[in-house]
Amino acid sequence: MRIFGLPAPLVALFMSCASGIAAPRNSTLEEEHNTQIKASHDNKPPVPPNPPPLPPPRPLVIWHGLGDQYASAGMLEFIELIKEMHEGIFIYSARISDEPNADQKAGWFGNVNEQVAQVAEQIAAIPELEGGFDAIGFSQGGQFLRAYVERFNSPPVRNLITFGSQHMGISDLPGCKPTDWLCRAARAAAASGVYSPWAQKNLVQAQYFRDHRHIGSYLHSSTFLADINNEIPEEDDDEDEEPRIRNLTYAFNLASLDNFVMALFDQDQTVVPKESAWFGSYALPTDDDNDVDKGAIIPMRKQRLYKEDWIGLRTLDEADKLFLIVCQGEHMRLTDECWRPIVARWVGSIDMDKVTEASVPQIPSLLIQDW
Ligand SMILES: *[C@@H]1O[C@H](CO)[C@@H](O)[C@H](O)[C@H]1NC(C)=O
Ligand SMILES: *[C@@H]1O[C@H](CO)[C@@H](O)[C@H](O)[C@H]1NC(C)=O
Repeated sequence: MRIFGLPAPLVALFMSCASGIAAPRNSTLEEEHNTQIKASHDNKPPVPPNPPPLPPPRPLVIWHGLGDQYASAGMLEFIELIKEMHEGIFIYSARISDEPNADQKAGWFGNVNEQVAQVAEQIAAIPELEGGFDAIGFSQGGQFLRAYVERFNSPPVRNLITFGSQHMGISDLPGCKPTDWLCRAARAAAASGVYSPWAQKNLVQAQYFRDHRHIGSYLHSSTFLADINNEIPEEDDDEDEEPRIRNLTYAFNLASLDNFVMALFDQDQTVVPKESAWFGSYALPTDDDNDVDKGAIIPMRKQRLYKEDWIGLRTLDEADKLFLIVCQGEHMRLTDECWRPIVARWVGSIDMDKVTEASVPQIPSLLIQDW
């Protein structure tokens, strides 16, 4: 059900979006390329009859999205395509349960903080990953992997890639297909309050629900997203509460990435607002009342979280390690044009010759996820 063969639309991958949020960069790529060329000229060894085999590509961890599970047909196909691109790569598909139905259910119901800790434990126990790895998060899997980086990062992530993730949360719950009972059950349960202590421990989407209309409730009650975003209530907000402080480890760990790549789907109607994929959010009442009514989007670089560098985003950006990418289409429509150049460049070891080869046009089946 999640796999369709669709004609590949013409996509300008590093196209910047109309709002001007994205400043695509490729100087790093050029520099790397030049360095490689330079190295080969400067220091030419005698050509051996049999060149030593290349080291295996850096391993990869993938975390699937909501409605999906770690070994679905779509996930397995995506993993195979990456293995074709990066021969010999080790790939681990993160999961909450080895049992596919239970893993799928855990995308809706469970305690995200515990889920991330559980995956961190798995990762730490896999020998292939001990030297570090790249990570790809689909949709909510993206902010979960970011939480891994901020809180654990042992072994460390080198390149973090997220597709259509909800880094600045969601302001609305996803709609449900009539037959999707897990979705409907979660939605019904959320009706009694996304910020109730129960919802914040049991409903996954509630744990990254960021209600811009009631930001105080979010800051006080969000057990997951407000924490990994280092968003804390204003000091004099509530005198009874123990004052919270921002966790510097989170910023330090995220800033230690080689690259942080965030893809946004330009037709995304599932994530509200879709700019959350790039740390955008609706304006808060404190930003400007008029903007709130109009549903204005505060882009990443205008967020306090960025400006005051609460989680290391600004450090990454100023070091040219932050990439905002547009993928054409609806939520998680992973076209060839969308994922291939990203995976060629930021997954495994960088091999510029292979990058050009991989961009030979072809139309494979696409991965479509519900969320
Ligand atoms: C990216 O690289 C291309 C080809 O080298 C170059 O023409 C273009 O100006 C570069 N873009 C940016 C934003 O650096
Ligand atoms: C910050 O996060 C790290 C990693 O999760 C944790 O070990 C540490 O206790 C946290 N520090 C504070 C002040 O909460």
